Amino acid sequence: MEYFIDSASIGEIKEAASLGVLDGVTTNPSLVAKTGKPFAEVAKEICEFVNGPVSLEVVGTTAEDMVKEAKELRRFGSNVVVKIPMMSEGLKAVKRLSSEGIPTNVTLIFQPLQALLAAKAGASYVSPFIGRLDDIGQNGLDLVQDILTIFRQYHLKTKVLAASVRHPTHVLECAKMGAHVVTLPVKVIHQLTKHPLTDSGLKTFLEDWKKVQN
Ligand code: E4P
Repeated sequence: MEYFIDSASIGEIKEAASLGVLDGVTTNPSLVAKTGKPFAEVAKEICEFVNGPVSLEVVGTTAEDMVKEAKELRRFGSNVVVKIPMMSEGLKAVKRLSSEGIPTNVTLIFQPLQALLAAKAGASYVSPFIGRLDDIGQNGLDLVQDILTIFRQYHLKTKVLAASVRHPTHVLECAKMGAHVVTLPVKVIHQLTKHPLTDSGLKTFLEDWKKVQN
């Protein structure tokens, strides 16, 4: 399973790289807004630093605008994956972009047949949002499982990129299901390193070590 970082903060992305967990990056307009910097500056910095795929999202709402924007976004680097919202116009844009060899990530997926449509249009990735479904009392992990089952059934090449991940259990379940990618807030990466027995075990080792020093 690949680990992407769900962030537009270059500091967080560098932190993830230093931990050895940076296969790629996903951003969205809200994450870019949180940096307080102009989009072009943020996109340039991330695309230059990251070796793997970087999802940058379009904000147009017609296929024509999305395709035009996609081509502008690709100027930031050959690693740019164009993030397209799930909607009819988005599917048209994905179809056109995939026929030109431009990779896409269809975002805001909340039911499995949206993912199947995106895959049929030629999406490279689909992004089911786990946490936002959990927030409204539905099971986000079931969505990931359903998409994986359907994609395997029809041998689809589109990768399932589990998004809106809120805690380590989401990551564990995605790994057990065989999701291709999870995109993680840096906070969740730090949570993944932790276990109370690791902390207490280390404390004991360090205390015992002191006892044998002269
Ligand atoms: C995915 O690409 C999105 O950027 C992201 O995972 C959304 O997560 P949120 O629900 O925590 O905003």
